[in-house]
Amino acid sequence: MNIVRIAPSILSADFARLGEQVREAENAGADVIHVDVMDGHFVPNITIGPLVVAAVRTVTSLPLDVHLMIENPGRYVSAFAEAGADILTVHPEATSHLHRVLQQIHSLGARAGVALNPATPESVLQYVLSDLDLVLVMTVNPGFGGQKLIPEVFAKMRAVREMLDRSRPSAWLSVDGGIDGVTAPQAIAHGADTLVAGSAIYSAPEGVAAAILALRGAVAGA
Ligand code: DX5
Ligand code: ZN
Repeated sequence: MNIVRIAPSILSADFARLGEQVREAENAGADVIHVDVMDGHFVPNITIGPLVVAAVRTVTSLPLDVHLMIENPGRYVSAFAEAGADILTVHPEATSHLHRVLQQIHSLGARAGVALNPATPESVLQYVLSDLDLVLVMTVNPGFGGQKLIPEVFAKMRAVREMLDRSRPSAWLSVDGGIDGVTAPQAIAHGADTLVAGSAIYSAPEGVAAAILALRGAVAGA
């Protein structure tokens, strides 16, 4: 694996000084900013909407990967694209019309991602492969930061890697949930190329920059 992208999740950031925390991650070499949007329906938590994405857009030039953990994501993709999202990632479990939503995202000029809950099989990707720019494999049940990674999901990650290598090699394979210095190399070994990390970066006692460096170090030889 040559390139490993690091995508700090601002879910665990200090929201009272969000701009500063995003800049800290950018200055420390983060590749993507991961933004977790939750609606209190699809997942049992409520976070942020397009206004905050627009605010984050003004403080960084990094791509914004907006992870929509919301019911009927098709209703909101245009609002998030207008707010400055570069990648819009949706859950197939939250829409009856995955193919249509992916087309919608592309028509807005954004890149399209699909996120899979731990129990969702990779087969849901089979007929939308040509529309995929990113697959986000959830290694926790979505809704909260700071949970423990579910190792059984690694088998699925390997299967997704093989699908993408065969049919969509340009798509990113991102892993989200419970990623730290121990689990990151395991995820890379199972085919991930992009690491989403919230608490391992924003709750690290050594600070954001040192935490990003430590994650890079942990996967350097993977
Ligand atoms: C969980 C979110 C994650 C979350 C990860 O529903 O999708 O992006 O921020 O947090 P950690 O890295 O703490 O597991
Ligand atoms: Zn996420």
